[in-house]
Amino acid sequence: MASAVTAAETKAKAVSTERAAEVQVDLPSRREFLYYIWGASLLLLLGEAGAGLIWFALPRFKEGTFGGVFNFPPDRVPVVDTAPVSVPEGRFHVVNLDQGLNVLYAVCTHLGCLPKWNEQEDRFLCPCHGSQYALSGLYLAGPAPRSLDRFETTVYFTDGTSETSDSVGDPIPLNGKTIDRIEINTGKRIKRTGRN
Ligand code: FES
Repeated sequence: MASAVTAAETKAKAVSTERAAEVQVDLPSRREFLYYIWGASLLLLLGEAGAGLIWFALPRFKEGTFGGVFNFPPDRVPVVDTAPVSVPEGRFHVVNLDQGLNVLYAVCTHLGCLPKWNEQEDRFLCPCHGSQYALSGLYLAGPAPRSLDRFETTVYFTDGTSETSDSVGDPIPLNGKTIDRIEINTGKRIKRTGRN
């Protein structure tokens, strides 16, 4: 009887030892644990970098809001050398000159007021300190340090060609071609460097 009990105890101990061994096998080693932590950190870092890239790639301004791209209807382009067409929500004036189409930033280069086109004077007049600008945006008088800035513009023609503003934002020649559409990027202001 006593030997039967001892055998049972021995068997129970053996089973217990086996289970303990199994449990030990399931636990990750210190090195594995560090690998897991390192892997998780790397994944987190890559996730953050990916989210950052997507955030940068997405346009920050909606089309048709200031800071974004405006689609300007070709039928609103003014006749050459006539009053500009102003778009207050985009803070720009579209002008059509002998040299071509130009888009002027509507903010005075002195202290940021909004010059208005004056038909009688044939120029933009700033209500704050009297700066004056020609239809082309060129500085004429007053304390403004430079001519009106411009916005990068792309004109698409019906013949499939297109023209984008150059680095100084000079007027885009239309050469009698029919305009299909006009994109004005109010996120890309081209600063004038002086009064000419
Ligand atoms: S803000 Fe236009 S002249 Fe001063």
